[in-house]
Amino acid sequence: MVHERHSDFIVVGSGIAGLCFALEAAASGKVTILTKKEDFESNTNYAQGGIACVASAEDSFEDHVRDTLIAGAGICHEEVVRTLVREGPDLVRQLIDWGVRFTTTPKSSADSPLGSLELYDLGREGGHSHRRILHSKDLTGREVERALLKCLREHSNVTFLEHHLALDLITEGKSPNKRCSGVHALDAPALEVKVFRAPIVVLATGGIGRIYQHTTNPPIATGDGIAMAWRAGLPVANLEFVQFHPTAFYNATGGETFLISEAVRGEGAILRRLGGESFMELYDERGCLAPRDIVARAIDTEMKRHGESHVLLDCSNMSEEFFSERFPAIRELCVRHGVHPPLEPIPVVPAAHYSCGGVVTDSVGRTALAGLYVVGETAFTGVHGANRLASNSLLEALVFSHRAAQSAMKAEPSPPTPIPEIPEWFQRFDPTMELEGVRVEHCTHEVRTLMWDYVGIVRSTERLKLAAERLEILLKEAEGYFERGWVTEGVALLRNIVQTSWIVVQSALRRRESRGLHTTLDYPETRPEEAHDTVLTPPDGV
Ligand code: FAD
Ligand code: SIN
Repeated sequence: MVHERHSDFIVVGSGIAGLCFALEAAASGKVTILTKKEDFESNTNYAQGGIACVASAEDSFEDHVRDTLIAGAGICHEEVVRTLVREGPDLVRQLIDWGVRFTTTPKSSADSPLGSLELYDLGREGGHSHRRILHSKDLTGREVERALLKCLREHSNVTFLEHHLALDLITEGKSPNKRCSGVHALDAPALEVKVFRAPIVVLATGGIGRIYQHTTNPPIATGDGIAMAWRAGLPVANLEFVQFHPTAFYNATGGETFLISEAVRGEGAILRRLGGESFMELYDERGCLAPRDIVARAIDTEMKRHGESHVLLDCSNMSEEFFSERFPAIRELCVRHGVHPPLEPIPVVPAAHYSCGGVVTDSVGRTALAGLYVVGETAFTGVHGANRLASNSLLEALVFSHRAAQSAMKAEPSPPTPIPEIPEWFQRFDPTMELEGVRVEHCTHEVRTLMWDYVGIVRSTERLKLAAERLEILLKEAEGYFERGWVTEGVALLRNIVQTSWIVVQSALRRRESRGLHTTLDYPETRPEEAHDTVLTPPDGV
């Protein structure tokens, strides 16, 4: 018998976007949260720098808007940026009400007005004209997850299902009346595909970093929401703008890396070549605090020009005491890898970090498919343009998940609809079926190295075309496994990373210029006639 569960809202993903949506929606109905690993596991959990918002008398909404638009290289949607910036501080206060403890400053006093954000220590990162980043030392994301999960665990309207991997959206009807009414998900421990139905489904599945070989993202970031939405016929936008963070730890063994927050440069650390020369002033007058696209490209150029495997982040301007107090987690990770900042410089390289593009949504997170909302890093709202300003991502997730929840709670009840069609793979699903696990592993590895080598910081049309050809073959292979009923976590992941990679490549091929995070040797200039979004719609799209 097929396991089927009904609720008022299904939320896929337990990062900041999914959890904030769930917390608000739970006030008006039953919420089921599906998440593919443990509840805290998400990009959110690893956020270091913090949440940007106007929080001091010296700062202003106009300045935050201007910094965001400048970083976005001419194609941010200004009205949406204004919404983000204006609504940010109240929603950050709401996070504090929900129990998030940001680092306070010793200067804060009992005289500070209640609810004042001036109590808090404000960090600085690239592209910001003021200190405006609230943080919990360098463990901001972990603190956000802790507080939100605590609230949700205590909520009687919320059911949390860990180790449930959403596979595909359930849709009913034909365009233009097509609507989303649930998801199929693999209950991994039980090896069972289950049906979850609700009139409102929210995709909050986070980023795509794991389509690349080197990334700051944890293993969950495989572009699942983008691939699922694409298969359901939804348009996606601006996926060529993959943000490479300039400073991931350079692991000489080739093993996993981790982020060295831009806040370290915000406190005065300097990027240097292996010989000790600083170089950022050759590229931008803002030096090490230029927006990320500029810094990552500069490091890439320096490494190539001098044949060096990495550059150094010199933190010697900071005392040991200050560094340990402000960046305890970074320090601990570095020490574990044999580097002792601030006494020793940290070896760093750029790594895939963030997707500025995503599934096209309106100003309240709605998509072209009735009943489906998309929030957080999976969504394209228009905020980031061609390059995201540091620490605007948690803010975007916060603001737009709130707007989505408010909209979803007011949504008209969905009309009665016929029972959705059962996909063929679901009928054939056989958890006992043997699969060539090694082949799936090899394909996954191949996609990631291909994306790193051919679709990295600096691109060319020839390489993008080669990548597209190979990805099309791999996509057929992954879809083939799925259609034969070989539905395992490994196959589902492969199918999603290939699909998402293919979309990134197609988006990159469409953009005939270099702008923000997209640099191509064939079109080195920024061209005014290309100052628009790259929107891709699947064949038979809604
Ligand atoms: P996530 O937090 O990634 O959550 C996605 C959730 O979906 C996870 O729970 C995941 O398990 C689940 N999921 C995915 N696929 C499925 C599926 N198929 N089925 C079920 N569940 C699924 N931004 C800032 O603004 N400030 C920072 O300081 C900052 N630091 C960062 C540091 C690091 C190391 C990284 C990687 C990112 C950082 N970012 C930062 C970016 C920011 O953290 C993310 O963009 C943001 O947290 C995304 O939130 P989200 O809720 O959209 O997704
Ligand atoms: C960082 O701390 O450098 C990451 C901030 C971000 O991704 O916005």
